[in-house]
Order: sequence, then structure tokens, then C-alpha cells
Amino acid sequence: MFKMRVGLVGCGNIGADFCIALQKGSIPAEIVALTDIERSRAELLLRNFQLSASICSLEESAATADFLVECAGPDAVESVIDAAIRHKRDCLILSIGGLMTTPELLEKARRHTIQVWLPSGAIAGVDGVLAGREGGLHSVTLTTRKPPEGLEGTPYLAGRGIHLEDLKIPKVIFEGSALEAVQAFPRNANVAAVVSLAGIGPQRTRVRIIADPRATMNSHEIVVEGAFGRLTAVTENLPSPRNAKSSYLASLSGCAELRTAAEAFVMRRKQGVNRNRWQRRDHGVRQTADFPRGSAHGGVGE
Ligand SMILES: NC(=O)c1ccc[n+]([C@@H]2O[C@H](COP(=O)([O-])OP(=O)(O)OC[C@H]3O[C@@H](n4cnc5c(N)ncnc54)[C@H](O)[C@@H]3O)[C@@H](O)[C@H]2O)c1
Repeated sequence: MFKMRVGLVGCGNIGADFCIALQKGSIPAEIVALTDIERSRAELLLRNFQLSASICSLEESAATADFLVECAGPDAVESVIDAAIRHKRDCLILSIGGLMTTPELLEKARRHTIQVWLPSGAIAGVDGVLAGREGGLHSVTLTTRKPPEGLEGTPYLAGRGIHLEDLKIPKVIFEGSALEAVQAFPRNANVAAVVSLAGIGPQRTRVRIIADPRATMNSHEIVVEGAFGRLTAVTENLPSPRNAKSSYLASLSGCAELRTAAEAFVMRRKQGVNRNRWQRRDHGVRQTADFPRGSAHGGVGE
């Protein structure tokens, strides 16, 4: 089977989830390059999954692979998109929070006809936000509910002297724009970024964060109002089997997105369509550098 050659940037828990998904064999993609600021993390993946991949720099990875997958962290996003542009590769970005304050990176990729795939991550309902946007949206509100131990000790609460250990009833601990939410609670950055980039932007998207002593998992509710009507979507997340700090759905959505990207890549290769031609044609179907479609306890992330 012809496969898309993937350069994985970030060899942590989500990187391992990509390896597990690819090992099952139904996604037409293979990892050919591993990049991590800690070489030992890349070595671990190489060994555990018996990959035939090289451990290399981002630059070498972009030169070798057909496609880059970022699951490293927000600080890596700009360099991954820049490398993708330099080497004319499409890429998938998991750390969408890294795009929140630099949306111009998406525009830059678009100008260079590089497709940036953005999975919906730890939240569902993004497809409805995107569809609603076409007709005009009035408001988008994201409410994140977490057990108190998942929020305790965050700098925002510590700075305000807010303690949650004796909380008996749900307490709204933050209300503001998505932009303010990301600054106050960086661990919510990806979900807030996904919702605001898909909808009405980080300034106009409202975010509420609730510490709920009765909550047993992290949940995210989106309420969207627009010309289409009203949408409510609730996602209740279990942690990844390999990482209590990350929602399993985030990894799974990355894998689903990789599957779509790889299948499209392979199909175009089979059709013998050269990259420049299919990229131009793609604009009509799927906007380059735009959304495609689209936890647990104790110190949890999204
Ligand atoms: N979209 C979502 O809903 C969502 C949900 C959870 C996590 N994420 C993102 O995915 C990222 C990875 O999550 P994880 O659970 O695998 O984290 P992790 O800490 O287990 O793994 C991250 C790996 O990336 C490496 N790394 C860090 N900075 C790097 C850089 N600049 N270049 C190369 N490697 C680098 C680290 O050494 C580590 O091995 C998170 O940082 C977060 O931004 C997104």
C-alpha cells in the first residue's frame, strides 16, 4: 500500500497515540522522521513501536517527509508551519492554542498554498460552528467544567487567593473573552482556540470556567447563536489511557484528521495529480489553512 510519509514533531503522549493508530495499519501513512527537543523521547518511540524512522531536526524532517504532524506544544507551532512552507509540505497542528495570538501564520500558509489541518481536539460541535459561520454568528460561549483539583494551583487562582479545596457547590472562577481565558488558564488554550478560530474570533468568543466538586470528568459546552438558530454541544472527556493530563478525544481527533489527510494524499498520488495542480483545485473544496470539520482529574489539561 502506498503511504504518506509523516514527520512527527513531538514524541510525547499524543505522539505515541499517533504511533498506536498507525500501527493498526488502516491509515495510509507511516512515520519516517521523529523530532523532539528531548532526543530520549524520540528514541523511546522508535524502540517501542519498532519504527523505521530517523531521529532528526525539524528541517531534516520537513525535507524528508511528505507531511508534518505537530504534537509538541504551542511554542513549536510557528517553526513547524515555517518549515512546512519552506519545504512545501502540508501539516497537521495539535497545539492550536499556539495559533490563538498568531492567526497570521494561517494566512501565511494560505498564501503559500500550504494546507494546515486543524483537528477539533478535545471538543465536539466545531462542525456546527463552522457551518453557522457561513450564515453569520451572533454569539459563541464556551463553558468548561472541571473538578476543583484540575484547576487548583493555577497561577490565575493563586494570584487572586482563590482556593478550591473546600468547595461544596459549583463555582464560576473565570468569565471573559477566549483571549483572556487562554492567558489565565493556558491548559485550556487548545479548546478555546479551536472554538474561537472556527467561529467569531478570540475577542468575541466568551469563556466561562467552572470548578465543580460533583464533576467526575472535564466537560466543555459550546452554545452558539446565529442566523441558523441555536446550537448546544456538550463533550465529556475521559483522559487518555497514557496521560491523565490530556483528553483521549484530542488524540483521537488528531488521528481521524491524519486519516483524512493521508487518504486524500494517497488518492491524489494515485490519480497522478501533481502537487501544484491539486493544491489549486483544493481551494474550492477545502480552504487551505482553515478548519476542516470539525479529562479527567487532578492537574488535567483539556
Ligand atoms: N487540540 C487539543 O485539544 C489538544 C489537547 C491536548 C494537547 N494538545 C497539544 O498537544 C501537545 C502535545 O501533548 P502531549 O500530551 O503529547 O504532551 P507531552 O508533554 O507528552 O509531549 C510533548 C513532547 O514534545 C516535545 N517538545 C516540546 N517542545 C518541542 C519543540 N519545540 N520541538 C520538538 N519537540 C518538542 C517534548 O519534549 C515532549 O516529548 C500539547 O502541548 C498541547 O499543546 C492539544
